[in-house]
Amino acid sequence: MTTLPAHLSELIGKPVHDIDTPALVIDLDAMKRNLVRMADFARKHRVRWRPHAKLHKSVHLAKLQMKAGAVGVCVQKTAEAEVMVAGGVHDVYISNQVVAPAKLARVAALTQAVAPHGGQIAIAVDSLEGVERLALAMTEARTRLRAAGLPNAATVIDVFVEIDVGQGRCGVEPGPAAAALALEIRKHPALRFAGLQAYQGQAQHLPSALARRMASASAVKLVELTCQLLKAQGIAPGLVTGAGTGSFALEAASGLYGELQAGSFMFMDVDYARNEREPAQPQFEHALFVKTQVISLQANHAVCDAGHKSHAIDSGLPRVHAFDSQSELEYFNGGDEHGILRAADGGTRLPKLGRMLWLIPGHCDPTVNLHDVMIGVTGGLRHGTVHALYPVDARGAMT
Ligand SMILES: Cc1ncc(COP(=O)(O)O)c(C=O)c1O
Repeated sequence: MTTLPAHLSELIGKPVHDIDTPALVIDLDAMKRNLVRMADFARKHRVRWRPHAKLHKSVHLAKLQMKAGAVGVCVQKTAEAEVMVAGGVHDVYISNQVVAPAKLARVAALTQAVAPHGGQIAIAVDSLEGVERLALAMTEARTRLRAAGLPNAATVIDVFVEIDVGQGRCGVEPGPAAAALALEIRKHPALRFAGLQAYQGQAQHLPSALARRMASASAVKLVELTCQLLKAQGIAPGLVTGAGTGSFALEAASGLYGELQAGSFMFMDVDYARNEREPAQPQFEHALFVKTQVISLQANHAVCDAGHKSHAIDSGLPRVHAFDSQSELEYFNGGDEHGILRAADGGTRLPKLGRMLWLIPGHCDPTVNLHDVMIGVTGGLRHGTVHALYPVDARGAMT
């Protein structure tokens, strides 16, 4: 895990005011309330909850989620899985396609690494070649370990067949192609067919709740069709896993999905918050902020020290967090290291030079990946204190 510089460690116990800018800050009280809401939802709807750790890339936060009731975490990359396992998170699902033999050898090694801890590695596949390559990597890992006389050589990996339920990204066609792949998986002793990966990514960010309901309903139909086909061929469909922050209540209500992969709910970015909430879903709070300060004051605008090297802008610009008494400010792109601030709604008041401000990122996942550390604060952003530092352990873990 990442070692943090001393000047950051010295922040523990200090007031939020002392956090230098720009910095990535978690409002831990808000984050924990979000976690409790999700855990309650999952319990009430009798679904497993496996949040996507690509959001926070932090071993500590993954463990916090599991303490709150998550069965494990999802990751998107082999390197992210390695970071999680090295940090002691032993139930990890790579919800993505991995086909490079060198990476698959690393995946196989992970299955061996978690076995003594009673852990499990799972992975998605969407091609025959992908299945064969994975099986070969598992067999080679077993052979190597047996040759070395090691006892835990007979590990298996859980394999989910990814079906394309409308996103048009990875995944085989729902129905016969998925059933054929499940049959193929069953031929390999080191692979265990675990179920279906059915993530409808496009549904997540649709602004209207009705549009999301329609997209999710169509995904559920495709899942249902595939489960029926699997059963007809004598294959138990296993677990259906998927769903994100925009739609998880719909998948949970389907009676088909047994596991929810939503991740962003824990921090809630501007993009998710501006969409019409599905009434069945809990209300989540913003919990991730970029702290910034005004470094230049001009006639009609102020300039802060957070540009797009501090926050991702792929889903839009950040919003300036307004405390009750403050007039609203609007953030405009000022380049890599600057943000331009103007009074919103025809107002004229600008913040003073040196004034500290809080930005809510447009998209949390890639924002986190820009930082080495997240600073956890309790007691609120105005009067709180620094409680903990969370290294972004899997920052840049792309392979
Ligand atoms: C496969 C998969 N599952 C789950 C998620 C989690 O979605 P969110 O962070 O929007 O809740 C994503 C996000 O892109 C994803 O790609």
